[in-house]
Amino acid sequence: MKITVYGAGQVGATTALRIVEQGLGDVILMDIVEGLPQGKGLDLAESLPVSGISRRVRGTNDYRDIEGSDYVIITAGLARKPGMSRDDLLQKNTAIITGIARQIKEMAPDAYLIMVTNPLDIMTEVLRKVTGFPKNRVMGMAGILDSARMRTFIAEAVGVSVQDVQALVLGGHGDSMVPLMEFTSVGGINITQFLAPDQIEKIISRTKFGGAEIVELLKTGSASYAPSAAAVEMLKAIINDEKRLLPVAAYLEGEYGFSGIYLGVPVVLGKNGVEKIVEIELSETAKPALAASADAVKKGIKKLEN
Ligand code: APR
Repeated sequence: MKITVYGAGQVGATTALRIVEQGLGDVILMDIVEGLPQGKGLDLAESLPVSGISRRVRGTNDYRDIEGSDYVIITAGLARKPGMSRDDLLQKNTAIITGIARQIKEMAPDAYLIMVTNPLDIMTEVLRKVTGFPKNRVMGMAGILDSARMRTFIAEAVGVSVQDVQALVLGGHGDSMVPLMEFTSVGGINITQFLAPDQIEKIISRTKFGGAEIVELLKTGSASYAPSAAAVEMLKAIINDEKRLLPVAAYLEGEYGFSGIYLGVPVVLGKNGVEKIVEIELSETAKPALAASADAVKKGIKKLEN
């Protein structure tokens, strides 16, 4: 397997580390900053004899080195600073992703693509449009991360292992994301059996602003450990044909009543990428919340068209 990671920054370097440590394939780390991907790539390669892993990692500034990649994870672009929303990154990251999409189209026309760069849902659409790749091969990472954040907060509040907490966050990867409490459980038992409504409300709010909380703390960057873990979970599901049911930013053509946009929905991930979009019955409160989230994504796309 040849796996390219675009961007050798916080998210990209951690993603590359997770890929090789899980033995998923050989990694090309691609960045425009001279020396950065080469240095990180070499450091990473030098960790593998200690870890006992027979994989290769190499950094490059030359996009031609991504030739024939089977999978590409895109983390290149600007990250948020305190006070910035994900949408503040729109114009600059669109230019970056457009360039990268052209490179992928030329050098890796058969690759499966996982977008991580924000604003996530819009960048995934830019990637799909510019590459012209089929929708099953172009997807965005958000729902797993948002759900993982909520699982962390719930586990802490209830006093149980994160492993026993199930959560589902759908919609766009922004302030309008939609945590679905009716599908949130601890060991299969609905969350309302464990937490009072005001505690649940606090967790929903903390989840929605989970990314901003990290940005405020770090001051010079944004989250990287959880986003990279989520992206690699998607990659692993595809490489190993696991048929995982996960929340993923997928291109909708009528599902949930929306068309022509990327939105976080439950999908089945297997060797053909997004193999199926799973349509579930939403509650009367979740329906308008998802519509508002879809509107926010549409507005972002409109901004680009103007
Ligand atoms: N090609 C390759 N790499 C690029 C390009 C490009 N055209 N443009 C920028 N980069 C690189 C930068 O040089 C930098 O090393 O992308 C890297 C981004 O790294 P960081 O600044 O550390 O940002 P990071 O925290 O990794 O976040 C990247 O992921 O979660 C999202 O919101 C986050 O959009 C942001 C992205």
